[in-house]
Amino acid sequence: MAIRLMAVKTFDRREDLRRFLKPRRTEGKVLGLVPTMGALHSGHGTLIERARRECDLVVVSIFVNPAQFGPGEDLDKYPRSPAADLLFCQVRNVDIVFSPTVDVMYPEALHTWVEPGVEAEGLCGSWRPGHFRAVATVVLKLLHAVNPDRAYFGRKDLQQLAVISRMVEDLDVPVRIVPCPTHRESDGLAVSSRNAYLNAEQRQAACVLYRALGVAKERIVGGRSPKEAIGAARRVLELEPLVRIDYIEVVGSDMRPIEEIGEEIGEAVHVAAAIWIGDTRLIDNITLFEQGWLDE
Ligand code: PAJ
Repeated sequence: MAIRLMAVKTFDRREDLRRFLKPRRTEGKVLGLVPTMGALHSGHGTLIERARRECDLVVVSIFVNPAQFGPGEDLDKYPRSPAADLLFCQVRNVDIVFSPTVDVMYPEALHTWVEPGVEAEGLCGSWRPGHFRAVATVVLKLLHAVNPDRAYFGRKDLQQLAVISRMVEDLDVPVRIVPCPTHRESDGLAVSSRNAYLNAEQRQAACVLYRALGVAKERIVGGRSPKEAIGAARRVLELEPLVRIDYIEVVGSDMRPIEEIGEEIGEAVHVAAAIWIGDTRLIDNITLFEQGWLDE
């Protein structure tokens, strides 16, 4: 039986996108945005599928944002697969793909940036200066271009989610940020575009990251302090010769380190880590909410 795919509308200029969306918005349609940098994989897929379930119109933006890559980072080798991405969106019934060029997003150098606060300081923020400022700025520009009711972000990029949630709150952006669980391979490795950089041996070693987070979780559940939990997780990571640890920390929802986990855990407690395997940097985290652990 032949399957008929609906055509995805594609736009690369925000004026055309706005013109298309305007009448649909007045019809009261719920609009969902999934911002991505393309090279779409099953992790992105889970966000898109959730948006599809919850919204009348789903927009996926695809823009590899040069501003959020530091000097010497992987901007040039970042995977790009526009034709495959379009098909990926089509089979998931996405209505619109917005893929602006760099000239559209940055017709000239910006004089104005979103300056995130404490959420951007530690963890990846200390290693990637300016990264979250560029992420927050481009996400705000994408939110303005699409003006969605809901925008979907993965918990895999924990600090990014914290920065964006806070920005939307602080700057009164009328959108609901929807955090989505981390999608993982069967051995626990979080799905990521950067996993494609790993060779077979490195790929096998990479699953130690999720294992180490699990050990930290066990310690915390057993009543140990964050320091002890981190120590135990570090020892697991150190047993893997291909791994270099960038950081592993227990943090609260403002991304600041937590020294003690009391009865009151507040909004959430996270164990977040970044490691290097060869030239590839991988990040992951698990979250303890008041209701229990969310680590899938
Ligand atoms: P990108 O890395 O393409 O990720 C797009 C979205 O997919 C992010 O919200 C990210 O957290 C989510 N995602 C990636 N892997 C996931 C996984 N395994 N499980 C669940 N969600 C996953 O993050 C960016 O792009 C950019 O920084 C962006 C927000 C688009 C701004 O440029």
